[in-house]
Amino acid sequence: MIYDDILQTLDEDKRLRKIPTGLGGIDLISNDYMSLGAKHSEFLSEFQERFDCPPMSASASRLLQRHQTEHTALENMLEGLYNKKVLLLNSGYHANTGALSALSVPGSLIISDKLIHASMIDGIRLGHGDTARFVHNDMGMLRKILEKKASQYKSVVVAVESVYSMDGDLAPLRELVEIKKEYSNVLLYVDEAHAFGVFGEKGLGLAEELGILSDIDILIVTLGKAAAGYGAFIATSETVHSYFINCARSFIFSTALPPSVIAWDYLMIEKLAGMTQERKHLRELSEWFRSELENITGIECQSRSQIIPVHAGSASRAIDMAAKLRAAGIDALPIRRPTVAAGTERLRLSLSANLKREELIRVLDEILAILISVEGE
Ligand SMILES: Cc1ncc(COP(=O)(O)O)c(C=O)c1O
Repeated sequence: MIYDDILQTLDEDKRLRKIPTGLGGIDLISNDYMSLGAKHSEFLSEFQERFDCPPMSASASRLLQRHQTEHTALENMLEGLYNKKVLLLNSGYHANTGALSALSVPGSLIISDKLIHASMIDGIRLGHGDTARFVHNDMGMLRKILEKKASQYKSVVVAVESVYSMDGDLAPLRELVEIKKEYSNVLLYVDEAHAFGVFGEKGLGLAEELGILSDIDILIVTLGKAAAGYGAFIATSETVHSYFINCARSFIFSTALPPSVIAWDYLMIEKLAGMTQERKHLRELSEWFRSELENITGIECQSRSQIIPVHAGSASRAIDMAAKLRAAGIDALPIRRPTVAAGTERLRLSLSANLKREELIRVLDEILAILISVEGE
């Protein structure tokens, strides 16, 4: 079977993935950035009191669904927060594949940052319009592409993440807004997966923090990370909202999220809005950890968020570093191709609000010990 050959090649390249088991140390893996998921049992009685046993299945796609109560309530709540139309999707993967494939029609151009998430790449690949890419965060290159091509298309979509999932660095959102305003046919598409809950006064994301929510045409938010729930939503204009209801295939042709899940999402988003102190703590902890890490590694860290990569440089080195940390009771996963480019393999450390400095000092000590042992080899 050809599939055996592929698996063997992956194994030889040290890229064979396995579902991790037996983890239980200091958690630097999960995207539960505000530690809401870790504390979920604290919210169960409130959930039961406020939501009267919502159905466990939607039993149909949203367009055929009889019971819309929870979906509509959550969309209304989010519309109030974002001052945009909101559409729930089944996951961030569904949102990006559905939205970008729908936006990419003949006569349109999708221009994306080279480091966007796989779900965005897949959405663009499913489309039928033209595509172009710019070097990560290179606004000069984006400007050149737009100068050359924008006038040839009816619609141009510039697609970025606000916080990049593997480097933890930020998109220059303000500059992106300035650039898009120079063109009447350019829409700005921003995936806030790793910023929602963590950035902004109410935790709405980096666009809220920068005061530019109204300038972003299409915002994508997943609820499986800081919101400790499941699902995703798209916040956008009336027209694009209606367009997605009609043309986003992952919305039309898939059973809607279970009402029980939506009710949980509702509760978690309410909690997130009030977590100002936790956001401040996570911000300070991340800044401190980054600078300590830079001192140890001697490598400047581009991250400006709670996602902090530790350079490994090869798949085997990343695996080895993760195994050593795990032996010391620290859970961190190696990130390899195709998630990141060859030569940039790393550990992706994901910090969360309930971590304490003492725990991170232990992590730094272990990283230092690993680096010293590698130098001695
Ligand atoms: C930037 C980004 N967008 C979208 C997704 C997909 O979201 P979901 O897990 O809800 O499918 C992820 C990761 O899971 C992500 O990192």
